[in-house]
Amino acid sequence: MSAVRTLSAVALLAGLALAGCSQPAADASGGASTPAAEPAVLTDAQKAALLAELPEPYRSADVAKGEALYAMCRSCHTYVQGGTNMTGPNLWGTFGAKAAHVAGFNYSDALKASGLTWDVATLDKWIENPRGLVEGTKMSYVGMKSAEDRAALIAFLKVNTSPAK
Ligand code: HEC
Repeated sequence: MSAVRTLSAVALLAGLALAGCSQPAADASGGASTPAAEPAVLTDAQKAALLAELPEPYRSADVAKGEALYAMCRSCHTYVQGGTNMTGPNLWGTFGAKAAHVAGFNYSDALKASGLTWDVATLDKWIENPRGLVEGTKMSYVGMKSAEDRAALIAFLKVNTSPAK
């Protein structure tokens, strides 16, 4: 379409090529290695197995709608395995993790001291109103009021931030 778009695609490819160069050789130890930032491609059966770990209404929530809702989070978070920390930490492996678990991310003292574990109920409260759950958090997101939207977003996160079953 536009020259700007073409240029940014070229820049992206150049960046990927550079990232590729910094990877250790896959066969250095005789074994296969998986580049960390490659998005996992799960089969439908693997996605279903992950969703089945969730209680209702999350289990049968609309994952595609959740993906669209992730637009609310994308400006601050990546979610693929090995993704970079931005304003917020990378979200890979959130489910079942302790709050403030990403090494090297500069969390607020409030979140570090919260003692929370990211189970579904806690995540739901967080997304509804981060500051209501953890006073003093530096996640400046206003909150998602619709329970149905939160369920869809949580289903999307479950499928996209968890190792395959
Ligand atoms: C304006 C930037 C911003 C937006 C938008 C945002 N976040 Fe965050 N998020 C943060 C920051 C900063 C933290 C760290 C908070 C702290 O240390 O108190 C965080 C922390 C988190 C954590 C805890 C991670 C951990 O390692 O304990 C989760 C889960 C999370 N965000 C999910 C979301 C979701 C889901 C959305 C979209 C609905 C979202 N965030 C939107 C900035 C943002």
